[in-house]
Amino acid sequence: MNRGLVILALIATVACNKKAADPQTESNVMLEEPVIKVVDSAAAGKHAGLALIEGGDCLSCHKVDTKLVGPSYQEVADKYNEADIDQLATKIIDGGKGVWGEIPMTPHAGMSRENAKKMVEYILTLKK
Ligand code: HEC
Repeated sequence: MNRGLVILALIATVACNKKAADPQTESNVMLEEPVIKVVDSAAAGKHAGLALIEGGDCLSCHKVDTKLVGPSYQEVADKYNEADIDQLATKIIDGGKGVWGEIPMTPHAGMSRENAKKMVEYILTLKK
């Protein structure tokens, strides 16, 4: 009886080790866990535009819901719509003033139009 248990335990251990060494094994929870964490920290489903905004200098002058140096992103979202995406992307790249006041937005000359548009698309999702 005891011997049987020991053998069972041995088999279980060997089977476990084999799984751990084989990344193809689907059912190994210990291997899957870190993978899930990576997906989480990349925040699956986060808008690409938000990631770009967080990675840029935008948040030193803009907040989502409060005016800072520049207008809040909610104010911007309320003022514009899809048809303005191109124009706003140009404004981010070239900078400029006069729409919200006399303080200019600094240009972001190195930014691609594609990325600038993604940022605007994200900002427009903040419409109240
Ligand atoms: C140095 C401060 C500053 C930084 C950095 C900054 N902005 Fe601005 N932003 C402003 C100001 C000031 C305005 C208002 C300009 C105006 O009145 O025409 C503005 C306006 C805007 C507008 C509205 C433009 C319009 O014509 O109504 C958008 C969209 C915008 N910013 C997005 C961004 C994004 C995205 C970034 C990061 C890549 C960014 N801003 C970085 C200061 C800044």
